[in-house]
Amino acid sequence: MAKAKVTFSDVNVTVNVPVGTRIIEISEAVGSYIAYNCREGDCGVCLFEVIKGKENMSAISKEEKAVLLARYQEIMDGWRATTDIDALQAKMQRENFIGKNCRLACQTQVFGDVVVAPL
Ligand code: FES
Repeated sequence: MAKAKVTFSDVNVTVNVPVGTRIIEISEAVGSYIAYNCREGDCGVCLFEVIKGKENMSAISKEEKAVLLARYQEIMDGWRATTDIDALQAKMQRENFIGKNCRLACQTQVFGDVVVAPL
């Protein structure tokens, strides 16, 4: 069976997994801090950053695009609603996705070598 090498930069762990494995299945096993909730592509909680290997991942479906868009809007709304500068700066550091390649861990399969991180 073909393998893909997946590196989780937050915990500095690299594993070889069968091609087609979803990121969420691996992140749980290695203790990465990629959060999740529904595991079905509905909630948008499992956002993670693709650091390397975007081309070695499943294509973004129309449904995933819609959830990503809704999640980005939710995060932006949260930032706009913040009036405390310290809280806003903390939020920005924690949730800054600008310039990053983001995907949903429960929807993304790996087909080759990748490096990922939680947001
Ligand atoms: S865990 Fe809900 S969208 Fe991935």
